[in-house]
Amino acid sequence: MSSKSKGAEPENGSGLLSMYRQARLIGAAALRWAFPERAQNRTYLRRSYNFESPIERGRHARTLSAVAQRLGPSALGEVLEVGCAEGAFTVELAKCSRSVTACDISAVACARAAQRCSGYANISLRHCDIVKASIGGPYDLILAMAVLEGIFGLKRLRRAVIKLVEAIRPGGFLVVNVFDLPGELQRAWWARWFLESKDRHIEALCKHPSLRLVHAESYPGPGLSVPGYAHPVIILLEKTGASQARDSDLSKGAASL
Ligand SMILES: C[S@@+](CC[C@H](N)C(=O)[O-])C[C@H]1O[C@@H](n2cnc3c(N)ncnc32)[C@H](O)[C@@H]1O
Repeated sequence: MSSKSKGAEPENGSGLLSMYRQARLIGAAALRWAFPERAQNRTYLRRSYNFESPIERGRHARTLSAVAQRLGPSALGEVLEVGCAEGAFTVELAKCSRSVTACDISAVACARAAQRCSGYANISLRHCDIVKASIGGPYDLILAMAVLEGIFGLKRLRRAVIKLVEAIRPGGFLVVNVFDLPGELQRAWWARWFLESKDRHIEALCKHPSLRLVHAESYPGPGLSVPGYAHPVIILLEKTGASQARDSDLSKGAASL
């Protein structure tokens, strides 16, 4: 995910500066853990995300193309987009779906998404926390792109995954984009207590007995790297009718991307 630069502190500062950075990181992470909606609203009010940038637009297009290869280029059916942000991807989905229900934990994001999506009769927007709210269904396709990173704590993460899977009809698909935590957070001694890494997200998904991993690719692609961008993995999972053994080679491959 690309985000705008927040402060003027140097990356490799002195002891005091690095303690200051750690304190700020811990504060931001604790806010997200304790008050996830407030934290997301704050992000939107500061306009820290830019989902219009070429790199994010490219990620959206790449994800849609991976979905189209599996499900066909049009008629995605009844779709749920979790963490719709300001609706940039929602309108793209609406062009090839029967209906799109788009939800976000941030009231600020939902209000902006409502404005952007007002011309699309097949989009309905909901302001809700995926961890707490009932999400209805069954859906043919659920997308949770760059969302799991915002759910702090393994218990919450597992609860959210179970809920998403329950809302997909058998034979339907779950699509996720999972990002690496910024290096600074990956290395922080305290992060292990409530931040989940990309590997943990992939593990939580691939271990679900009703999900079968059918596609995984790194974005923007092997050998390409964009400075400052936390390169995600685009993953498609199919909901099988019954519990079944997963393709463990594919799961290991996804984890190593
Ligand atoms: C990084 S943005 C990604 C936006 C978009 N899905 C994309 O990939 O371009 C993550 C979004 O998920 C939302 N989000 C985080 N936790 C959530 C939760 N528990 N329930 C619903 N939405 C959530 C955030 O408010 C934010 O808008």
